[in-house]
Amino acid sequence: EKRIRVALLGCGVVGSAVARMLIESADDLRSRIGAPVELVGIAVRRLAKDRTDLPVPADLFTTDAAELVTRADIVVEVIGGIEPARSLLLSAMKHGASVVTANKALLAEDGPTLYAAADAAGVDLYFEAAVAGAIPILRPMRESLAGDDVRKVLGIVNGTTNFVLDKMDTTGAGFEETVAQAQALGYAEADPTADVEGFDAAAKAALLASLAFHTRVTGADVFREGISDVTAADIAAAKAMDCVVKLLAICERTTGADGIEGVSVRVHPAMIPRTHPLASVRDAYNAVFVEARAAGQLMFYGRGAGGDPTASAVLGDLVAIARHQVAGGRGPGESAYADLPILDVGQS
Ligand code: NDP
Ligand code: HSE
Repeated sequence: EKRIRVALLGCGVVGSAVARMLIESADDLRSRIGAPVELVGIAVRRLAKDRTDLPVPADLFTTDAAELVTRADIVVEVIGGIEPARSLLLSAMKHGASVVTANKALLAEDGPTLYAAADAAGVDLYFEAAVAGAIPILRPMRESLAGDDVRKVLGIVNGTTNFVLDKMDTTGAGFEETVAQAQALGYAEADPTADVEGFDAAAKAALLASLAFHTRVTGADVFREGISDVTAADIAAAKAMDCVVKLLAICERTTGADGIEGVSVRVHPAMIPRTHPLASVRDAYNAVFVEARAAGQLMFYGRGAGGDPTASAVLGDLVAIARHQVAGGRGPGESAYADLPILDVGQS
């Protein structure tokens, strides 16, 4: 019987939840996939860290990620950052492994290099967890909506900033204090500046726009303004007008002043009426609205950050890829073909 060898890179907030699910759900995964999944190793930075709460044999942990990726059928990357994650994934694919990653920063900076490596090696590259945590949004975009004409994607895609704005609105808590809470709950990035200044949401908006519009948008193409300048007075002023402040990501097919058809992608705080559906997105939840020519309006909602919600998306990708491997095939590759210009329309 074929067994699917899985290497896990990273065992922090997300990686530990993935490891736990792989071990505790092994029997279910085996029957859903049609083959057993074997966790062959977990790469970490600090071997000495106490991880005895995890149901994982101690000898699976290693600091030699480069060696680990050479002996897996699927490599799950939840280290984060650009390097060494990029080199490890390129090496993994070169050695024939398919890849699951939650690393939006890397994909938004250098996705095409990874897509090309996956195509060259004939392996899968899946990254559902990179946008909006547990919410299935990327595969619906990449597969279910691939025959339609998506015109707009709009929503809340960063759990940390939504948590902070929500707590400031409902409890009157301070900015620094709520950011610290989001870190303690495992919502924030290793450096929460990425959340607070909108870099994380911009990376996610770039991925959404690329898949929705079949083009290439990088994080640097996105107009970005974070929430660090949002004060308690701003929140109170919004409240007085029966509004809330939310950090929105907005991706649109649009026409510039010169009549050129392109895309506009932006992330910025916005005041929205309390009656608007996005106003009821609380805590670290996310919500994404999609508008497509034939489908009309679609709405996706769920937990946008945290170990378990993110691990759910990672495991979903892992099962999809493992099924391909059992059947002897691969899933859809990159769908970019329309090289649309980025239009700078600024804040809306
Ligand atoms: P953490 O900081 O909690 O975990 C990072 C893990 O990577 C740690 O286990 C760390 O080891 C390990 N690591 C760091 N550097 C290396 C290295 N050079 N070699 C091997 N292992 C290394 O991050 P998260 O789990 O929060 O995030 C991981 C990824 O998932 C990021 O890309 C993030 O953007 C993404 N993501 C996170 C979500 C969340 O809610 N937290 C949601 C969606 C995506 P050690 O334990 O020894 O320090
Ligand atoms: N730091 C991210 C957030 C994690 O708060 O949304 C989920 O991608």
